This record gives sequence, C-alpha cells and structure tokens, in this order.
Amino acid sequence: MKWYDLFSNFYDSSLEKLYFSSRQRAAELLDLADGHTLIDVACGTGANFRHVNASRKNVTIYGTDYSAGMLEKGRDLVAKNQWNNIHLFQSDARNLSPASVEAAVGQPILFDRAICVLGLSVIPEWEKVLDNILSLLKDNGKVVIVDVFAEKRDFNTWLVEKIARADLNRTIWQTLQTRTSHFHHEYLPVKPSKVGGRLFVAVGTKA
Ligand SMILES: C[S@@+](CC[C@H](N)C(=O)[O-])C[C@H]1O[C@@H](n2cnc3c(N)ncnc32)[C@H](O)[C@@H]1O
Repeated sequence: MKWYDLFSNFYDSSLEKLYFSSRQRAAELLDLADGHTLIDVACGTGANFRHVNASRKNVTIYGTDYSAGMLEKGRDLVAKNQWNNIHLFQSDARNLSPASVEAAVGQPILFDRAICVLGLSVIPEWEKVLDNILSLLKDNGKVVIVDVFAEKRDFNTWLVEKIARADLNRTIWQTLQTRTSHFHHEYLPVKPSKVGGRLFVAVGTKA
C-alpha cells in the first residue's frame, strides 16, 4: 500500500474535479432510503461520502480501505465535517467477509447498499473482491460500481494504469451482471483521454 499511502497526499487535488459528477450519479443510483447501511469498499480519501450524505437519508456509512494513508485523509474529512454517521476501518478487500467486518466494527452487520469506486480495477483478485462485497449485502441489497474499461488501449491507458496501479482491461460490469439481478450499466460523461478508457457505472441487486 506504499504507493497509495504516498498518493493520498495529492489524490484529491489531482483527481477530484474529474470524478465529482460521476460520484453524484453513483450516489443517485444507490437509491438510498432512511436508515440504510452502506459499505464503501476501497473508500480511499472518502470522496464519496459527501455525495451519500447529500441524500439526507440518515444513512450509516462504513468505509474501508487497505491504505493507512488514504484512510487518514478520510478520517480528517469525516472529523472536519463532523459526520457522526461515518465509521472507517482498515482492511484488505480480498479478505472482507461478514466475520471480518464484525471483528472490525464490533457488531454483526449486513448492508443495504455497497459502493466501490475505482477500486476493482486496482485491487488484485477483483472477482473474489466482488464476491466478498456481495457477501456483505442483505438479500435484495444493491451494489454500485464505478470504474474504467479501456475498449481501445492508448498512451493514456498506459499512463493511468501506471499512476493508479490499475488494470483497465477488466470487464468488471460483465461479471457483476452474471452475479446480480436488476442489472444496469451506463457510461459516464468523462473524456476517455482523461481517465484511460470509458468510465462507467454498473448497478446490481443481490438475488
Ligand atoms: C483509485 S483509488 C479509489 C479510491 C476511492 N474509492 C475513490 O473513488 O476515490 C483505489 C483505492 O483502492 C485501495 N486499495 C488497493 N488495494 C486494496 C485492497 N487490497 N483492499 C482494499 N483497498 C485497496 C487503495 O488504497 C485506494 O484507496
């Protein structure tokens, strides 16, 4: 996690403008209701939190990331905004399970919603991570994934992969489609040259 610990120092200042409106769309697609619980996997610096809280739906958010540096920025953000509904813990998403979350947060919990933005293109064993995320959802719980897929590889693809330590060849939404019901996929209006491929959001419901 050394790279993301370092990256945390300039992650928001270099990327947030680019992804802001996509996070808004992702939060909309979460279709939150009062009292929902949400897990944000690979939450990084917590850039999704303001968009979830903007729903004003009294949602309890659990954010988790492997990088201590990214989480520290997330903790600063939560403290600065006095978001008492947000709880953060460190974990390797490859090992996430109901039992590991219970050990981390001190109570058994399954979630109404899960979100993972720009995580599955970065984390090794991403298919296992997707299964782990689904295992944390209640029946009929919904997962929203935002990520990038490079239909055509070019220099920008290579560059983004180097900077983000990502693999933009992963057909993440296709795997989500095979594992969920009520699947929805849409492309987001961000220039491929800026993010190394096509930015998409995909949504599925745990059957
Ligand atoms: C491109 S950033 C995305 C961060 C955040 N979701 C966002 O939208 O800005 C990728 C994140 O994946 C995290 N990450 C990488 N490997 C991980 C793993 N094995 N388990 C959990 N998080 C991981 C990194 O620390 C980083 O915060």
